[in-house]
Amino acid sequence: MDLSTYRIGIIGGGNMGKAIIKGLLAAPQSPTLSAWDAASDCRKQLKEELQVPVAQDNRELVLNSDIIILAVKPQIIDPVMNEIADALTTDKLLISIAAGVPCKRLEKPLQNLVPTIRIMPNTPALINRGISAIAAGSHAQEKHLKITQAIFSCLGETALVPENTMDMVTAVSGSGPAYVFLVIEAMLDAAVGLGLPRDLARKLVVETVLGSTELLKESGKHPMELKDMVTSPGGTTIAGLAELEKNGLRHAFNEALKSACQRSQELGK
Ligand SMILES: NC(=O)c1ccc[n+]([C@@H]2O[C@H](COP(=O)([O-])OP(=O)(O)OC[C@H]3O[C@@H](n4cnc5c(N)ncnc54)[C@H](OP(=O)(O)O)[C@@H]3O)[C@@H](O)[C@H]2O)c1
Repeated sequence: MDLSTYRIGIIGGGNMGKAIIKGLLAAPQSPTLSAWDAASDCRKQLKEELQVPVAQDNRELVLNSDIIILAVKPQIIDPVMNEIADALTTDKLLISIAAGVPCKRLEKPLQNLVPTIRIMPNTPALINRGISAIAAGSHAQEKHLKITQAIFSCLGETALVPENTMDMVTAVSGSGPAYVFLVIEAMLDAAVGLGLPRDLARKLVVETVLGSTELLKESGKHPMELKDMVTSPGGTTIAGLAELEKNGLRHAFNEALKSACQRSQELGK
């Protein structure tokens, strides 16, 4: 989709705001971008390093944008919405990436039936390898979902989901990178524990994780089938797997995802 005809305004130029801006700047047909952030050093960075025009304030940014992306922390969403509500007209699209904030909460201070969309991206978006789950609010139509998919494709993969699954999605792909990093760290330390130098251990672990996920994705096979391929009878892998099962890895993931999902529900209230 040609994004060059759109004016996109980003509110909040932190980690995710900058990742979105970088992704959009690298798009084949970049939109017209502008941004605003409460922090002056961040505004300076946006202007000088990313060459993105900085608005006078959030309200002015909204008035001069077709699509507005809210990339501020969830606890800042309500004050920002109060600041921009009267500038949001039905011809604009409001997208929020704030974790746990439902579209209904965005819609509450609005006098108009403004289309809203809620996104759950994840941190691999920083290198365009993220997955962004996209859920429509009350007044978002097919065309709004299409343009949102085009925007977030600049940060990796996208998936359309019903909004009532967002807490589960948050637990899986939003928080997911942290779980993967913990698993990697645990494998790395265990490798060092065996006596391997840390540099070598890091290379072995990272390439193993990367190669395994690529193989899983490309082959389209079930993970169990690929696991069986490495597991010869009475061999090393089955001995390792038996320890992981005995120590409750599967149970730990079940509990972790349930807990993260529950926390997301609590934060959304
Ligand atoms: N990072 C992740 O893994 C991740 C994943 C999924 C979703 N998200 C969501 O993405 C959103 C942004 O996260 P982040 O990690 O990018 O946060 P961040 O780095 O803290 O960026 C937020 C930026 O917004 C600025 N800000 C504060 N008040 C503002 C206002 N009134 N108007 C405009 N800008 C304002 C902050 O400035 P100050 O520093 O001065 O407050 C900060 O620069 C959050 O809602 C989060 O839930 C993040």
